[in-house]
Amino acid sequence: MARDAWDPQQLPDLTGRRYLVTGSNAGLGYFSCEQLVRAGARVVMTGRNPNRLSAARAALHRRVDEAEGRVETLILDTSNLGSVRAAAASAATSGPVHGVLLNAGITHPPKQRETTPDGIELVFATNALGHFGLAGELLLPLAKTGGRLVWLGSLSTTISPYDPVDPQLVEGYTAWRAYVQSKVATTSLGFEADRRLRAAGVSVSSLVAHPGYSIGGRTPGIQGVNQPSRLKRFADNLQGPMTQSKEHGAWPLVRALIDPDAEGGQFYGPQRLTRGAPQVARPSKITRDPEIAARLWEFCERTARVQWPFEKAAKVRRR
Ligand SMILES: NC(=O)c1ccc[n+]([C@@H]2O[C@H](COP(=O)([O-])OP(=O)(O)OC[C@H]3O[C@@H](n4cnc5c(N)ncnc54)[C@H](OP(=O)(O)O)[C@@H]3O)[C@@H](O)[C@H]2O)c1
Repeated sequence: MARDAWDPQQLPDLTGRRYLVTGSNAGLGYFSCEQLVRAGARVVMTGRNPNRLSAARAALHRRVDEAEGRVETLILDTSNLGSVRAAAASAATSGPVHGVLLNAGITHPPKQRETTPDGIELVFATNALGHFGLAGELLLPLAKTGGRLVWLGSLSTTISPYDPVDPQLVEGYTAWRAYVQSKVATTSLGFEADRRLRAAGVSVSSLVAHPGYSIGGRTPGIQGVNQPSRLKRFADNLQGPMTQSKEHGAWPLVRALIDPDAEGGQFYGPQRLTRGAPQVARPSKITRDPEIAARLWEFCERTARVQWPFEKAAKVRRR
């Protein structure tokens, strides 16, 4: 499909493909699952809370006729490396994996620094490190299908281009800094993954996408998934000209995951920066710095105790 002919409401047929999405019980993750299933894919909806996950699965079944028999659920807490490993093992043994959308995230970090039971700063662990571990664990199944990884970036990395020299913010924690640093990390890791995959000859590509500025008060109300108060609807609608729904915010994520013409190392976002049709975009300068990316990669390897199996993945025969 020609790049300018992409219609996010008329996706290519995805029958026979299976995608895993982190943080699928709400927001962009939920709408990405809807769009994938409508196009014929199977999805593995994942989340950390079983009740919220079943509510989202029920909503997807209510809203999408094609969902019958195509939706799996899996508990996955991205802030917990044990949960990441268990979920990856389960997803890898229950079917092929054609793509992984590394979407889950803390978007409103705590005011004070918090750590996970593994002793890692919570926002970095949830948004970046858990996804680094998950992607590494799923590399072999992805190599079998010639699959894709899509990481979640953010415009905030242009507004405050923090160099994550101290990724866990042992010093100088603020909620904003923790969020932006985690997004510098996810974006840099996404590009670094693609460079390393190419260098190793692995048939997996890694891309990054951002949803512009997508907010719940401009998003359809869905029981168990998105139930904003009247006040939130009112406040969010005041920002109408520069915002969009999370349903539309999912468009660049889904395009990066499934567009047959998309390539590893690309960055997708809305046409009008914060809103609009999905297209190739320009990532912030700091996220394109290979030295920062290499430093983050090594930090993640050490902290998560995960080495991506590049050599093995390069030998995997595509099915
Ligand atoms: N919305 C935007 O304008 C915007 C802009 C730039 C980037 N992003 C990025 O897009 C992604 C999704 O954002 P969103 O707007 O859809 O946010 P959201 O509506 O708050 O949804 C976040 C999702 O992540 C899940 N999550 C949080 N912590 C988790 C954990 N430890 N393990 C597993 N799942 C976890 C949440 O599950 P629970 O319900 O269990 O909390 C929820 O499903 C994030 O990575 C965010 O940084 C969003």
